[in-house]
Amino acid sequence: MKTADNSATPMVRIRGLHKAFGEHVVLKSIDFDVQPQQVVVVIGPSGSGKSTFLRCCNGLEQPQGGSVEICGRMLVKDGRMLPDQELDALREEVGMVFQGFNLFPHLSVLHNVSLGPRKLRGLSRVEADTEAQALLAKVGLAHKAHAMPASLSGGQKQRVAIARALAMKPKVMLFDEPTSALDPELVGEVLQVMKMLASEGMTMMVVTHEMDFAREVGDVVVVMDGGGIIEAGAPETIFTNPSQERTRSFLQAVLTRT
Ligand SMILES: Nc1ncnc2c1ncn2[C@@H]1O[C@H](COP(=O)(O)OP(=O)(O)OP(=O)(O)O)[C@@H](O)[C@H]1O
Ligand SMILES: [Mg+2]
Repeated sequence: MKTADNSATPMVRIRGLHKAFGEHVVLKSIDFDVQPQQVVVVIGPSGSGKSTFLRCCNGLEQPQGGSVEICGRMLVKDGRMLPDQELDALREEVGMVFQGFNLFPHLSVLHNVSLGPRKLRGLSRVEADTEAQALLAKVGLAHKAHAMPASLSGGQKQRVAIARALAMKPKVMLFDEPTSALDPELVGEVLQVMKMLASEGMTMMVVTHEMDFAREVGDVVVVMDGGGIIEAGAPETIFTNPSQERTRSFLQAVLTRT
């Protein structure tokens, strides 16, 4: 486990984050920092705001109040987003992997990974393909470079999605339930790739119900309920001695389900 160097500029700095859909307040004044190289695991009941929280961290959702800074640069200030062009540039620094893979179905695996760098990082086709091939090797899929997404298993698709996000050379990776859509026997191969990224020092925020992963790989576990962070701390503390009764009952429900 890595200890946070609190003197460093946080990789992600969130202050007073407030988000509502119409009358429905979904995030209530969230303050949180993610330090460089930290792995933050976000847990909490369905509807507690985990996905919305993550989506605010890469500008996919516009909050009504508060600020989000990525590596010291404001993505959102007083609830207002950066202008589109700057937003796109900053977004490239924040990779995101979703539950549903979201690969381009009509493009080969290699092309899925190389498209972003060609379009957005200005690489030539050869450069982008070379980098993509190396990333596919890293996630154990070099042999699938020329396959189409439909021919892959869910675990393979998700590893391609991770390679695609990494191809943009992000400073932070956000994962929203990356293994929830997978058959149980395919979960391990995706968690393994995420574990490797963590060990290489990637800063990560991960929403997951995989409590073993949270314990083993997480530096900090954040517990959300009702749109707020009800507690955050080292995995051991959260799992063995949580301060909130709501954390205790949530963990009991999750751990007895599996
Ligand atoms: N686009 C939207 N429009 C309206 N309400 C929304 C929208 N997205 C999310 N919500 C609401 O915001 C609340 C938080 O949703 P969110 O998806 O962030 O929760 P979650 O913790 O990720 O839940 P889950 O574990 O089921 O994925 C929920 O009440 C949800 O219905
Ligand atoms: Mg969610």
